[in-house]
Amino acid sequence: MLTTHSVEELRHAVRGWRAQGLRIGLVPTMGNLHSGHFSLLDAARRHADRVVATVFVNPTQFGPNEDFSRYPRTLEDDRKGLEAKGCDLLFAPAVESIYPFGAAGSVRVEVPLVTEPLEGAMRPGHFAGVATVVSKLFNLVQPDVAVFGQKDFQQLLTIRRLVTDLGFPIDIVAAPTQREANGLAMSSRNQYLQPNEREQAAAIYRELQKVRAAVHAGVSPELAAASARENLAAEGFKVDYVSVRRASDLGEPAGEPPNNLVALVAAKLGTTRLIDNLLLDL
Ligand code: PAJ
Repeated sequence: MLTTHSVEELRHAVRGWRAQGLRIGLVPTMGNLHSGHFSLLDAARRHADRVVATVFVNPTQFGPNEDFSRYPRTLEDDRKGLEAKGCDLLFAPAVESIYPFGAAGSVRVEVPLVTEPLEGAMRPGHFAGVATVVSKLFNLVQPDVAVFGQKDFQQLLTIRRLVTDLGFPIDIVAAPTQREANGLAMSSRNQYLQPNEREQAAAIYRELQKVRAAVHAGVSPELAAASARENLAAEGFKVDYVSVRRASDLGEPAGEPPNNLVALVAAKLGTTRLIDNLLLDL
């Protein structure tokens, strides 16, 4: 596996593969890799001949009071894990390579509508940061296919819109959420949790499953979400939102069949903010 910080080296490697007619897959990450990330690599392998992973903690998607500076940076472990997974190239650029005019001087990519509710409302500017860095990575790597996790459902929808709207010739593959044995969605932020909080955090997935069952049993999406909100609050979470939305565009449901809906949660346990979601199709 080639590991590089250099845009030139990245381009050179990718050009060589492309000249051989190989299909190139991209898995963008912020590092501190876990089994959830590695499952994206497996998916990329299935869709491409060569797999590029990127590790870049993107400053523009963090709010001023968020965890950018304390976000776990474990590049050497990430490199070993990617190598063991058969990744072909790790691109880990410096901030200056991605933002040559600084974050404030950078071109910004804004995806309207799907980015506005939920995470977008709680984290102003977050999805512009994501859409901007992903556009840059798409241009630098020029993959044929890129893999994103369903764990970040609103991000996945944002990327799909970005690709359709700006005409990137890239197939977007969605990879299912990988979970701990107790149901907690894997996340780099889980390591901020105390051992007892990790057990408590499993309540999020339990509540999502209850919402799915309730909506299928005929309970209205609003009531099902309200009851999950209450239960999570009673279990010690500070709930940002529990919401049932149309899976296609995150619009408010208006009588759609449950199979077209998704339930989404964001909640804090102590100082750790967790997000998760569940498609309501059975
Ligand atoms: P990061 O949080 O590192 O996640 C990288 C990719 O891994 C995302 O597509 C995310 O949805 C996926 N992922 C995370 N946890 C997962 C899990 N438990 N199961 C399956 N997939 C999982 O998301 C980002 O980084 C950034 O916003 C990025 C897209 C790299 C842009 O900076």
